[in-house]
Amino acid sequence: MADELAWWQRGVIYQVYPRSFQDSDGDGVGDLNGVSSRLDYLQWLGVDAVWLSPIFPSPMKDFGYDVSDYTGVEPVFGTLYDFDRLLEDVHRRGMKLLLDFVPNHTSDRHPWFLDARSSRTSPKRDWYIWRDPRADGSPPNNWLSIFGGPGWTLDPPTGQFYYHSFLKEQPELNWRNPAVREAMFGVMRFWLGRGVDGFRIDVLHRVMKDAEFRDNPANPAFSPGMPPHQQYLGTYNSDLPEVHEVVAGMRRVTDEFPDRMLVGEIYLPVERLVVYYGEAGGGVHLPFNFQLIGLAWDARTVAAAVERYEGLLPAHGWPNWVLGNHDKPRVVTRIGPAQARVAAVLLFTLRGTPTLYYGDELGMPDVPIPPDRVQDPYEKNVPGLGLGRDPCRTPLPWDATANAGFTTGHPWLPIGDDFAARNVAAQRDNPGSMLTLHRRLITLRRDDPALLAGSYDPHAAGDDWFAFLRRYGDRRVFVALNFGSRPRRVEVPAGGRVLLSTHPARAGEAVRGPIEVGGDEGMVVELAPG
Ligand code: GLC
Ligand code: MG
Repeated sequence: MADELAWWQRGVIYQVYPRSFQDSDGDGVGDLNGVSSRLDYLQWLGVDAVWLSPIFPSPMKDFGYDVSDYTGVEPVFGTLYDFDRLLEDVHRRGMKLLLDFVPNHTSDRHPWFLDARSSRTSPKRDWYIWRDPRADGSPPNNWLSIFGGPGWTLDPPTGQFYYHSFLKEQPELNWRNPAVREAMFGVMRFWLGRGVDGFRIDVLHRVMKDAEFRDNPANPAFSPGMPPHQQYLGTYNSDLPEVHEVVAGMRRVTDEFPDRMLVGEIYLPVERLVVYYGEAGGGVHLPFNFQLIGLAWDARTVAAAVERYEGLLPAHGWPNWVLGNHDKPRVVTRIGPAQARVAAVLLFTLRGTPTLYYGDELGMPDVPIPPDRVQDPYEKNVPGLGLGRDPCRTPLPWDATANAGFTTGHPWLPIGDDFAARNVAAQRDNPGSMLTLHRRLITLRRDDPALLAGSYDPHAAGDDWFAFLRRYGDRRVFVALNFGSRPRRVEVPAGGRVLLSTHPARAGEAVRGPIEVGGDEGMVVELAPG
């Protein structure tokens, strides 16, 4: 029943990248008080939960994904007091707050790692992953860092290598060690006890590595131009069977607190992804489903992927969909502004929880970053392949004033040069804007049992369109999406009325026979009960 769904099933999750949302103190970097000052906006938009990318003390080698203290707040972002105020204000508005939990690795400045590297016999040595060099002095195996180069760095004073899937400043925790588990579960309890509603969990599928540290096999599909680490498969350092024990442990800790939830960042093929729901639902509530980011934007491909995903979900598994995040090119840049509107209709009408990336509601494109302003270590270490993530992390344009209302200082990343026209203030009251489309979609979904809780029934697909039904009892909502620029005639199972379209003038239109779906149009039609 629609009213029996949990908040994270009904709700829309909105990802805030704190550095780029709103600066409150003029240092050019967004912060917690900035987020607090913009809660009116998020409430107006209608989102239910805010996920904050990491806000913990960090040397910022990977912009917060290198944590040096899991239970504090990075001074650039504010204080624990600011955080508590933000949380309280979010809750007062009936919204939820998710933090980013980074269990796979710490910063090399974390006191645990400082202790671990101080000597081979230090009490925390085994909290990280240490191996002897091979006989010739080379790294223990062929595992590579995603951010370029070997996944192993030698610590000369102690003569061993430590492992890191990312930067050498992000040493990886040893989750086989029960003390590490207990410490990290303690971190979860710290924040859950403070009232946070759950976590997005960073690279969850990578937390366990092969106990024997075997070499990864070569990737037969590798070709130059792909991210270099993909020359090997992740057979021995990703998605090991043992990871599910860890996931189940995190879930048990979460369940000690009422009504909390976990979202896992997991980049895996769908048949592997769905295993993270856990046996009998003892895994994460939502293993992030990134298919819409990775797939070719082609109607038949997308329709087939939705059906396949629906078919692979375990009985207890609640679906979810994502169009963008802080690691991937923005949706407008991937598929263009007209299709990004169609994609928005898809995101909010599919079955399952939508996650919206800040700025996508304005149709923000990636912002080109001049070489001297590159911040992302991925771009610095593996340049020229278009892997850098700064373009999708630029400040949110709030209005047409200096620095788009984001900061009174010098923004840490450039603001898109279209900000005078593309900003929250300019789009707010414009019926044709991307922002208005998002707000309408969110409102529509919130109040519609078929969109919230209805089944997903594929209807038909053509070369560049597809249509489906959401059905709840005798309520039927029909969604038709045109991925092409030419109009299409689509059969509709019954008469009805257009609830919403990417072409706003069509809202309210009566539907009697087949409908014409315009080029680049996505429409939502309420059908006569049946
Ligand atoms: C995740 C984060 C990414 C980060 C990496 C290492 O993929 O989303 O931003 O660089 O983990 O923590
Ligand atoms: Mg600031």
